[in-house]
Amino acid sequence: MKKNLVSITDFSKEEMLRIMDLAADFESNPHQRILLGSVVASLFFEPSTRTRLSFESAINRLGGRVIGFSDTSNTSVSKGETFHDTISTISNYCDMIVMRHSLEGAARYASEVSRLPVINAGDGANQHPSQTLLDMYSIMKTQGGLDGINIMMVGDLKYGRTVHSLLQAMSQFKTHFTFVAPPELAMPDEYKEHLIELGIPYTETTEMEKYIDDVDIIYMTRVQRERFSDLMEYEKVKNAYILRNNMLAGTKDNMKILHPLPRVNEIATDVDKNPKAYYFNQTENGVYVRMAIISYLLGVKK
Ligand code: CP
Repeated sequence: MKKNLVSITDFSKEEMLRIMDLAADFESNPHQRILLGSVVASLFFEPSTRTRLSFESAINRLGGRVIGFSDTSNTSVSKGETFHDTISTISNYCDMIVMRHSLEGAARYASEVSRLPVINAGDGANQHPSQTLLDMYSIMKTQGGLDGINIMMVGDLKYGRTVHSLLQAMSQFKTHFTFVAPPELAMPDEYKEHLIELGIPYTETTEMEKYIDDVDIIYMTRVQRERFSDLMEYEKVKNAYILRNNMLAGTKDNMKILHPLPRVNEIATDVDKNPKAYYFNQTENGVYVRMAIISYLLGVKK
């Protein structure tokens, strides 16, 4: 039976740890051409730099081939073809689909239409599970493990899909969460209720500096301009939190700053040279983790 990665909850804790092991294997030996003869469709209905290019890099490094698009304007979507018919057709041309879409649930629907494995590369404000696995790999590499980490999530916790997936995954590893957001962009209740059901502690605050010295990971996020229906509301909150180098003086030695990127204003560029800034290393980890996810779902690495 085919396996998808549409939500991070599609993977058990054991499968997430298996991806960590596979990613470490690919990092130590990236020249494994185990996808020779395979074709992966890369369908980006919404803009991307890291996710699309790191997936395509992963496929190429594994010896596979990529078909797809990064802009629907030169596809038959622009002639009015339905999403169903687009996915159904492309399923005849490849062995796996990687897709991003602005609509929540689009990847789940594609997984129901297609007989092939589907990887959700981000669906609206909902989920971004491959980002979560690379975030976990980054946490594991920098903290020496995944258990008992204190993670501060900062910024747009309402529309930021990466924090939603990461919360669900890390809730299996005795994590303490600190949520820092303006009230308008607070972590949605359904995710906080999930933590309460599991008996996992969390702190919710608007004061980043009050807690910054206690945490192992600061996970910064961009305010998701594209999800606001009223841009005046975006203007009010867009600079709510800006991490600056002088705020890091008292932070723990092991602390690392992650960000799924792209960044706008939320991390000042003076942070980039601080050894605690890990967000560009995080992008490299994305290639190894995506090699791991693809090869696991295609069954070429058990
Ligand atoms: N992290 C992430 O999803 O970045 P892109 O939007 O550039 O793919």
